[in-house]
Amino acid sequence: MGAWRWIGAVAVAAVVGSMVAGTAHAQSGGREEIVGGRAAPDDAYPWTVRLSMGCAGALTAPRVVLTAAHCVKGTGYDSSITVTAGSTDLHDRDAIRVKSRYVVRASGFRDATEGDDWALVQLDEELDLPLLPLATGRTYDRGTFTAMGWGATREGATSQQRHLREVNVRFVPDRTCGRHYRDAGYGFSAKEMLCAGDTKRGGIDACQGDSGGPLVRRDDTGKWIQVGIVSWGYGCARKNYPGVYTQVSTFARTIARKTVELSEARLASVAGTPLT
Ligand code: ARG
Repeated sequence: MGAWRWIGAVAVAAVVGSMVAGTAHAQSGGREEIVGGRAAPDDAYPWTVRLSMGCAGALTAPRVVLTAAHCVKGTGYDSSITVTAGSTDLHDRDAIRVKSRYVVRASGFRDATEGDDWALVQLDEELDLPLLPLATGRTYDRGTFTAMGWGATREGATSQQRHLREVNVRFVPDRTCGRHYRDAGYGFSAKEMLCAGDTKRGGIDACQGDSGGPLVRRDDTGKWIQVGIVSWGYGCARKNYPGVYTQVSTFARTIARKTVELSEARLASVAGTPLT
């Protein structure tokens, strides 16, 4: 799966801007890992997948992966992404590897710090793996979440992880998160972003290379649901600067609709009808 390719991409991103997440380049390409976490158990998050450009994602349908907009180039046919699924170990010979076919990027997306940071990747074939449902309302946008990914384990680290890692992060209110980021000169959209981490002490966070991966929690029935998408942050795990996630509940209707379109789109796209 071209391990050198994402390691290369990560090295570039680390040089360009692992410190400041504010520019398109520091943001784009998705290269921050989990800081302050641990190895994820083998079967805990079967819907979490790795994308070859150095991001993560989650399966919303057998042929559709939800990731961050800043991980992809735009909407349209795209067979350049390889998705590795079905294993926490990226070198696992039994992991499933499948190509992308089409990408839908949020139409309003410009930069992660401006919101709309979500995209769907249509796969070349269906995967027989569990799916991760979206949070459809605000009910679960609070409490303790789990973030996961194969990205860097500390700010500025150039390497990615072979094994999936996870970390528990607590919800940080928009007021607190927005104040810190606005004071530092960043945009913050309370409606489109959700923050999580430890504002007082730092030390736990997603980081370069985790982008696009799911932020999850259990609902009242004990089922995992996706509340966020790893999006951006100022460095990684710094105090006062929690991780910023795309607020899935805000976009859930659109994401669900596009997921259905992409699931049914094989014939349409073969016949040349463009998708949007
Ligand atoms: N933009 C990063 C990526 O592309 C993810 C940033 C998450 N950063 C954070 N401090 N939580 O991988």
